[in-house]
Amino acid sequence: MNQNALKRAVAVAAIDEIRPLLAKDSVIGVGTGSTADHFIDLLAELRHDFQGAVASSRASAERLKGHGIDVFELNHVGTVPVYVDGADEINPRLEMIKGGGAALTREKIVAACAERFICIADASKRVEVLGGYPLPVEVIPMARSYVARELVTRSITPVYRDGVITDNGNQILDCYDFLIEEPREIEFALNNIVGVVTNGLFAHRPADLLLLGTDQGVERLT
Ligand code: 5RP
Repeated sequence: MNQNALKRAVAVAAIDEIRPLLAKDSVIGVGTGSTADHFIDLLAELRHDFQGAVASSRASAERLKGHGIDVFELNHVGTVPVYVDGADEINPRLEMIKGGGAALTREKIVAACAERFICIADASKRVEVLGGYPLPVEVIPMARSYVARELVTRSITPVYRDGVITDNGNQILDCYDFLIEEPREIEFALNNIVGVVTNGLFAHRPADLLLLGTDQGVERLT
């Protein structure tokens, strides 16, 4: 199966997973990216079985609305029973790098409010140690150069994602050459640099369940 077919397969599996959690008054969390897009398209079939969704990006909000699914402000919802999203990398502890689509901050906020985080990913995303994929760091624009210098002092190579403005009006530095053996410590330390909004490590709030698309089928990993 090609990568897109694997993404579709895990989206189908996620629909089966959330179906029992849906109620007329439930508002679910929906992520961002091409795998999440498959999930949104399939969710359209169930739109009468739940109240609506909170989205981790404007792009996903527009896609949801395009399918007739109501999109709510997170501030009006509180906790969400389940959040479904993709990842750029995921390790055996279900810690992730996210933010390839520049939606990391809103993704982290929705994940924080979720009772259950289901990660949907094709097999290429599974790694033993995070860091092969560049770690995104969202920065306040005026702090970009300062944060970049701070990263360099930590032996990290930051690259400005030129031309990208996040949904929050900020910029992204992608961190290369950086194997992440201690994700929880690194997540905390990078977030402590002044001017960083957040980084794309999801270690303090890992996924609860990984639906991993492989040529042998969808693996269910906890
Ligand atoms: C967006 C994300 C995505 O979940 C991540 O980039 C995976 O994307 P895709 O499903 O397109 O491979 O974190 O900010």
